[in-house]
Amino acid sequence: MRKFKVMSVFGTRPEAIKMAPLVRELAARPQIESLCCVTGQHREMLRSVMETFQLQANYDLDIMEPQQTLTSITTKTIQGMDNVLEQCSPDLILVHGDTSTTFAGALSAFYHKIPVGHVEAGLRTYDKYSPYPEEMNRVLVSDMADLHFAPTKTNAENLRREAIRGRIFVTGNTAIDAMRTTVRSDYRFTTDILNRLDFRTRRVIALTCHRRENYGRPMENIMRAIRDLISNRPDVEVVYPVHLSPRVRECAFSILGHVERVHLIDPVNVEEMHNLMARCYMVMTDSGGLQEEAPALGRPVLVLRRETERPEAVAAGTARLAGVERSKIVAMSSELLDDPRAYAKMAHAVNPYGDGHACQRIAQAIEWHFGLSQTMPEDFSP
Ligand code: UD1
Ligand code: UDP
Repeated sequence: MRKFKVMSVFGTRPEAIKMAPLVRELAARPQIESLCCVTGQHREMLRSVMETFQLQANYDLDIMEPQQTLTSITTKTIQGMDNVLEQCSPDLILVHGDTSTTFAGALSAFYHKIPVGHVEAGLRTYDKYSPYPEEMNRVLVSDMADLHFAPTKTNAENLRREAIRGRIFVTGNTAIDAMRTTVRSDYRFTTDILNRLDFRTRRVIALTCHRRENYGRPMENIMRAIRDLISNRPDVEVVYPVHLSPRVRECAFSILGHVERVHLIDPVNVEEMHNLMARCYMVMTDSGGLQEEAPALGRPVLVLRRETERPEAVAAGTARLAGVERSKIVAMSSELLDDPRAYAKMAHAVNPYGDGHACQRIAQAIEWHFGLSQTMPEDFSP
């Protein structure tokens, strides 16, 4: 019997981390052929994830350019996908989240009249330019998708309010599934500085920052705030794996390059990152993925953005919006460093984003929707 062909399309680090457990879950289902098409929007950072999760791409569009523009990512993906879809004729395309790969992948599927499943659907800020271009990418993908895999009830409600076409399932976020295999109490770091740091005597802040809408002044403010808050606290160390984007690296190295106890390192593999978060004092980030992962590990998160499409951790009390103004970031991080009660209030593990079984629900939903199984998945609830 011909198997049902599901092609997962992704291209950046976070999409790969969150799609890896799903690609494997689908491959384990006897009625499904699980295929992988990577756009290569990220090169080194994608390779690292593929190696960790031992994933092989069936197709690689290899589109990355230095200083790439939104137009080049989008056009090169659509052009590349044309050949792939003609060759392979999948029965369903899965895209993830809100990157340019996500948008162009869904659009290509639509042009070929192939159904689209959207993993991590329904996140919204309702601000067209923030995050940019992600908010518009995910809104447009919601319009094109037939199956919407919303991580949380709030995400599903957003889609229902918008009267989106297609079926909506509340599945949990696959990021939490990925963490089931990466986080280990006996994990030994391979990155030199992470091995040397004594997490029992030093308070380590895990920092990441890369968003396009933070380029320029907001990112400079963030870097200066880090410099301010570390200067009079000798037991605090900052570990910042700096994204490979030239704009980000220029800013980070020019302001924090020679600051004592700030460790600027290359991006680390996902096992290193998850285990760093599991051992750190707190997380400061503008990343989407870190906002989901840190609460599950009981680490307070200061979100270095003006708004967030992930309000669940804020509501649960483990994340706070610190904005992009230097003085506010310093004030909020100082509170967490100097007031044990404020810290204790935020440092508790919660799982608003998933229970580690999102991929099973998504695979089951696909089988049910396409008549391969009679069993509909139950919604995730925390
Ligand atoms: C992209 C996504 C963003 C996501 C982020 C995750 C878009 C528009 N943006 O942003 O939603 O949060 O990925 O990290 O889809 N580079 C390398 N090697 C790599 C990766 C990147 O050299 O492995 C450099 C290249 O010079 C590239 C630049 O980084 O041109 C920017 O990459 P790009 O994918 O355009 O943007 P991100 O900021 O990574
Ligand atoms: N991450 C990683 N290595 C790093 C920094 C981040 O593996 O050096 C992981 C992180 O744990 C999360 C994902 O990458 O799973 C987040 O990716 P990113 O911040 O690039 O994108 P976003 O989540 O903001 O879209």
